Amino acid sequence: MLSVRNLEVDYGQAHILSNLALEVLSGEVVVLIGRNGAGKSTTMKAIMGLVPARAGEIRFQGHKVDHLRPYAVARLGIGYVPEDRRIFTDLSVRENLDVGRRTPSGAGALWTPDRVFALFPNLAEMQDRAGGMLSGGEQQMLAIARTLMGNPTLLLLDEPSEGLAPLIVEQMAEAILTLKRQGLSVLLSEQNLHFAHLVADRAYVIEKGRIRYSGTMAELAADKEVRDAYLSL
Ligand SMILES: Nc1ncnc2c1ncn2[C@@H]1O[C@H](COP(=O)(O)OP(=O)(O)O)[C@@H](O)[C@H]1O
Ligand SMILES: [Mg+2]
Repeated sequence: MLSVRNLEVDYGQAHILSNLALEVLSGEVVVLIGRNGAGKSTTMKAIMGLVPARAGEIRFQGHKVDHLRPYAVARLGIGYVPEDRRIFTDLSVRENLDVGRRTPSGAGALWTPDRVFALFPNLAEMQDRAGGMLSGGEQQMLAIARTLMGNPTLLLLDEPSEGLAPLIVEQMAEAILTLKRQGLSVLLSEQNLHFAHLVADRAYVIEKGRIRYSGTMAELAADKEVRDAYLSL
């Protein structure tokens, strides 16, 4: 589905990502996990074409996407939900979904507002409410919902559990597992190992812009050394 090889990203003189490689197979939920400043958001932005790669190759479903503009990457079927969510605060929930609507490039199920509301029942009850009046958790759900309206086959979620209340974290995990059952592939970034364990099949541990470890969630759970070295605060 997605394959990243030898990715190098700089911000000015600063080396941010070095020799980064990762893969997401069809139907997998993969977590990129690491502390604040490790390079998670930069990795996602590089995949979307929002920051230029100095070197490396990014392939999505056989297409080389590393020199494409962000809209072209999205059109191929990668949906991106950035860390800062960026919903339209003056538009209603329903209108936010309309903004996200996009005709799919390939096959795949078509997302409708009703289908989105079945996934996020909270949102169904506030269709006419302005985005800015929603709680942080509801805004995160709306950001994901709006991206789903673009009918992606791969979803990139940048720290979807960040700042959410525990109950909302559980609901978010349920929604991601439902998407996985429906066949969507997901790459998410996290600092929260608990959340990663709820949803992910595999993990890549990132520190200082390098992948330090990769394995299944069960392998990561069994590896205290890796967790202590790269994930404890
Ligand atoms: N626009 C930018 N200009 C310069 N440095 C940046 C910029 N954005 C992020 N960085 C730096 O790149 C590193 C990785 O950041 P980021 O990818 O946001 O990490 P994470 O998402 O894992 O918290 C950090 O050291 C951060 O300070
Ligand atoms: Mg980040």
